[in-house]
Amino acid sequence: MSERATAVAHSNIALIKYWGKRDEGIALPATSSVSLTLDAYSTRTTVEWGRDTDTAELDGAPLAGEAGARVTRFLDLVRSLAGRSDGASVISRNTVPTAAGLASSASGFAALAAAASSAAGLDLAPRELSILARKGSGSAARSIFGDLAVWFAGDDDASSFAEPVTDPGLDLAMVVAVVDAGVKTISSRAAMRLTAETSPYFPAWVDASRTDFTDMLAAIAASDFTRVGELTESNAMRMHASMLGATPPVSYWQPDSVRVLHLVRDLRSTGIECYATMDAGPNVKILCQRRRMESVRDAVTAAGITRVTTSLPGPGVAVSRDDE
Ligand code: ADP
Ligand code: DP6
Ligand code: CO
Repeated sequence: MSERATAVAHSNIALIKYWGKRDEGIALPATSSVSLTLDAYSTRTTVEWGRDTDTAELDGAPLAGEAGARVTRFLDLVRSLAGRSDGASVISRNTVPTAAGLASSASGFAALAAAASSAAGLDLAPRELSILARKGSGSAARSIFGDLAVWFAGDDDASSFAEPVTDPGLDLAMVVAVVDAGVKTISSRAAMRLTAETSPYFPAWVDASRTDFTDMLAAIAASDFTRVGELTESNAMRMHASMLGATPPVSYWQPDSVRVLHLVRDLRSTGIECYATMDAGPNVKILCQRRRMESVRDAVTAAGITRVTTSLPGPGVAVSRDDE
């Protein structure tokens, strides 16, 4: 019998961001976050144990350097949970652009956590899977779940996990203005570390985001789309403000990013309600309700952005063991 499993996970975009760790060793975040899993972007990963060494490939090319080392460190965690010492082969495909600020590390490590643990014979509950995925990439803790998810910062390894948030009928959708799908110049991990270590605005970001988080959960429970949108946009801007305060400053913005941010403001003034958020990359994600998704997409296209992706809420991770 082969010890092989395949998992599919979807990326997620935070409405309340995770930016900065309290403990980098076990990936405890400085603050709690809330996200929307997207059906448009995913990772499919197959893991097979019983090898002499670890090998990993993504989109047909070997994962080398830090990306390969990150997979091996993650497999070490699975080995220690499963009490085994063999190597694994990892074969992965992203439909999400890799390292472009569209959360490939979230879908990537959620899929790897599910495939590697299942293939190793572990039968982890969703919460345990979220805790494991978190140690590959923080945002991956949330991609275990579909739709809206909350990741509680927690105060130790066992209390820092994500879980689903009930959507009371917000009917959310996201339009992604793909300004640049290329690889970012500084990884999310390095940029958040630099911000936490050097930005005088980092403590203010942590304070503000804690309040935003509480307000966001209340706005979701009240099914108040306007409030959800306003909090989404202001929380993202606050995160980027904290980066600008780093030494050296971190900015992922490109001219087209700013153009889309202005367009979103203009659309609101004409009655098309939508709100922008940005992550560690130049692409702008526009949160709206499903009935406005096409109007928003058409407006972004008309503004000259050639790659525009529409997305509805996506599913949580799915895994199947290939027992032969
Ligand atoms: P993103 O905005 O795409 O999440 P990050 O800087 O957070 O960007 O992480 C990108 C890194 O995540 C990649 O360089 C790679 O190390 C890792 N990654 C992305 N996709 C996968 C995958 N399918 N399998 C394993 N690792 C992945
Ligand atoms: C801006 O989860 O990619 O997208 O934990 O170091 O792998 P690591 O970082 P990552 O950071 C995501 C940052 C963000 C905001 C968010 O997704 O909450
Ligand atoms: Co990431």
